Amino acid sequence: MPLVPMKIVLDEAERGGYGVGAFNVNNMEQIQAIMRAASEVRSPVIIQASRGALRYTNMVYLRHLMHAAVEDNRDIKIVMHLDHGNDLDIVKQAIDLGFTSVMIDGSLEPDGKTPRSFESNVEMTRKAVEIAHPYGVTVEGELGTLGGIEEHVQASRVILTNPEEAVEFVKATGVDALAVAIGTSHGAYKFKQTPMLALDRVEKIHRLVPHVRLVMHGSSSVPQELIAEINRYGGSMPNAMGVPVEQIQDGIRRGIRKINVDTDTRLAATATIRRIFHEEPAVFDPREYLGPARDAIYRVVKARMEAFGSAGHNDDYAPTTLEEARRLYK
Ligand code: G3H
Ligand code: 13P
Ligand code: ZN
Repeated sequence: MPLVPMKIVLDEAERGGYGVGAFNVNNMEQIQAIMRAASEVRSPVIIQASRGALRYTNMVYLRHLMHAAVEDNRDIKIVMHLDHGNDLDIVKQAIDLGFTSVMIDGSLEPDGKTPRSFESNVEMTRKAVEIAHPYGVTVEGELGTLGGIEEHVQASRVILTNPEEAVEFVKATGVDALAVAIGTSHGAYKFKQTPMLALDRVEKIHRLVPHVRLVMHGSSSVPQELIAEINRYGGSMPNAMGVPVEQIQDGIRRGIRKINVDTDTRLAATATIRRIFHEEPAVFDPREYLGPARDAIYRVVKARMEAFGSAGHNDDYAPTTLEEARRLYK
């Protein structure tokens, strides 16, 4: 099965009323762990790369790792998605590299902290759609800003997504998926106390633009047992806190279909590597710590696929190619 456009995976999730995890990757172990989980629980999967991931892997390595995932898992529906593309050049580059889905994040100015005007976000997102759809490539836009950190920079002001603006944005841009700001943020320090996400907005936006698939960024749950393991073995992550899985499930009931997770797999790998370095100080073969780290990532991803409800749904439908998606957009 080739890589599939994200639109078909999310449209199916809409029909089935479940969410699909989008997991960030930077290396082979992460990709293998995600694919092991997807293949075992029979879940479609979105593998995504940030601009940082493309830089880290010099692009070509990541591209080949993604294709290795396809070759090794021919019966699993895999979406290759660009996460937080911030200009049209990176969108074009991702399409050239074979990505089947791109995010154009027009929520912030190029400085990464000043909220971009609605008009300028619309303009850039509309152009990204114009570039991507003729190739059958899915487009995710973002409206509103995430709390906390966007690409390592503190957003100066958190702006939750306005449902009426969402309608206008979707109409003016033609996006397939929309990242909504409902109070989450990237990273391991999302809240100081149990959060109350603005899930009523999800419900309203879902009702107003039922043909667009809603995306929740900053969805790591920051499992406290992983934080405890990191802290026990020499790490220092006091007061780390994430989004409770139950709130994500509530979001899915209200219309969230794509759930972005990066921090949780980072925590799983770090906790395991710290423990092994502490317990077995003589270890120096990277396979002896990267292998168990890969197993820990697999466990987190599998748990998320089960919790989001995508497990068991890979074989519900036939794959669509980019060529078929291209014709649909026409
Ligand atoms: O969007 C945030 C993701 O966690 C990617 O993070 O830019 O460090 O790769 P990164
Ligand atoms: P987390 O930092 O919560 O994993 O969010 C990841 C994300 O939104 C990637 O785009
Ligand atoms: Zn994000």
